[in-house]
Formats: sequence, C-alpha cells, structure tokens
Amino acid sequence: MTQAIFQHFGTKRLLGLGVFALAAIYLFATRPVPLQAEQAAGRTVPVETVFRVVAAENDVARKLWTADIVGAGTKAGLKFHEKWREPAMEAGPLPALFLREASTALQKTRIPLGLFLGSDFPISQSNRFTGIQADHFAQLRNTGEPEFFNATDIGRFTAIFPDRAVAPGCVTCHNEHPNSPKTDWKLNDIMGATTWSYPKERVTLEELVQIVAALRTSFGSAYDAYLTKVATFERPPEIGDKWPAEGYFIPSKRVFLAEFERRASANTVERLLSLAEARTASTSAGR
Ligand code: HEC
Repeated sequence: MTQAIFQHFGTKRLLGLGVFALAAIYLFATRPVPLQAEQAAGRTVPVETVFRVVAAENDVARKLWTADIVGAGTKAGLKFHEKWREPAMEAGPLPALFLREASTALQKTRIPLGLFLGSDFPISQSNRFTGIQADHFAQLRNTGEPEFFNATDIGRFTAIFPDRAVAPGCVTCHNEHPNSPKTDWKLNDIMGATTWSYPKERVTLEELVQIVAALRTSFGSAYDAYLTKVATFERPPEIGDKWPAEGYFIPSKRVFLAEFERRASANTVERLLSLAEARTASTSAGR
C-alpha cells in the first residue's frame, strides 16, 4: 500500500509537497470505524512507537544543525558558543543548546512531550543523568540500544536513545572543552543520550501526528531564535537559499526546514503508513 501511494503521487512530487501533511490527511481521511470499536481493535499505538519516531526526527535535525550549520558555518567564519545568548557574543547555539531551544519551545506547546540531553561525562553538571535514568543509561552504554521504562519518580513513560558522535565537530569540541571530564571521545562513540518522556502509555495515531508536528514546530522555533540573534550581528550573513558550505550564508527558516523535511519525512511517513496498515489489517480481522 505504501508503495502504491508513492507511485500514485510520484515519490518526488510527494516529497516536494510535504509528505507529512499528506500522510496526516491520509490517516484522518481513512479513519475506518467509530472510536470505541477502534480502541477495541488496537487503534492506539504504544508510546514506545512515539519515542522511536521522535528520536529519528531529532537525529536528523541534530545532524543537520551540527554538520551543515555549525560545522560548515565555523569554516565560513560563523561562530557558535555556549554563551551565544549574551548580547556581546556574535554567535549561534551549539548543538546541545539548539536541542535545548527546541525542548523549551516544545514545553510551550500543548503537547506534553519532554526532551532532555544528558550524559555520564557531561561538560555541564546539570546534564548529568541521575536516579532511574542513570541506571538505564548504564544499560544503554552496554548494549547501544534504546531503553524504555516507566519513570515512576517523575510519573512519566520514558525512553532514552543513544546520542552518538555523528560528526567530527562533536568529538573535537568536547575533547578540547576545559570542563569536559573526558578528552578521548571518538567518532561514533555514545556521548550521551536523549531522554523523551510522555504521560500516557498509548496514543492514537492522530495524537502521534500532532506530537511530530509539535516537535517540527519546535525545531523551527529553535532556528528562529538563531535568526533573531544573527540579525543583531555587526556583519550578518546573507539569509536565503544558500548554506554555509557555500560561504558566509545561512539558509532561511523555510530552506532549513525544507531540507530537514527532505531528510526526515520518508522515514517518518513510512512508519506512520505501516502503523495505518497494521490498523487496517487488525480492524478487518476483528470484523
Ligand atoms: C563547538 C562545541 C560543541 C560541539 C560541536 C558539540 N558539543 Fe556537545 N556540548 C558542548 C557544550 C559546551 C555542552 C554543554 C552545554 C550546556 O548544557 O551548557 C554540550 C553538551 C552536550 C551533551 C550533554 C552532556 C554534556 O556534555 O553536558 C551531549 C550528550 C553532547 N553535547 C553531545 C554532543 C554530540 C553528539 C555532538 C555532535 C552531534 C556535540 N555534542 C557537538 C559543546 C559542543
């Protein structure tokens, strides 16, 4: 079915149109049965699935920000710093702080999805895992696999996903940072983990779509915060279609998000459609 849809619209055109919106329309439009029967037929998805989808989206945003903005931007003469918010500092947010911007923006939405980046060797002590999360992080370090658990101490379903050194910048910056307790990070090491939390054990597909939409809006807000800062630079880079890899440029919010969607959507839509497929199968089996 997934393939048929892609063939029907033409993959390129579908991607160009913002597949995500289409998938949402598709999911809503094909809602097969009334609510009660839907729930009986396993219409909701486990929060674990939600966490897998948002973690994959976050990986794309994080890599895009780190490599294409921070990495390429530094070479082009742009600066990124932990104190980027200070008025005298002509800099943008480091990767961890871009994620924190997104996390703060997420808290302002109606969606109760929590996002945190921690480690056992943190540069900033406030990012050190504690309690139940520290135990699960130790496990994750051993297996390299995400952990899912009910964090009864905070009353939330929780997942932690490995945060790997996906770009050379991750390694050099942490190794050289004066507050880093570890100075021999290597490419692809697990440097920490992103923690996601949500108050419910299961969600509807509609809720899942809303969660992803809220997360994407939050990435947009984080990028907005950067653009606002850039506007105060003495010599601001040109904002438009070009990327730092081409020189002293940064993409507009539209261009940045379009690239993010181009990289993230195929995977997310694939997951949503397979959930919808499973649902169709289970509802017809139940009839
Ligand atoms: C240019 C420097 C720089 C780069 C590049 C960078 N980081 Fe960091 N990172 C920091 C700083 C500084 C902090 C602490 C920020 C804070 O919370 O105040 C941090 C925080 C973190 C944390 C939270 C734990 C801690 O150390 O406080 C993790 C995990 C992390 N970074 C992983 C990564 C990964 C993975 C990448 C690449 C995708 C990356 N970092 C790229 C400087 C950097």
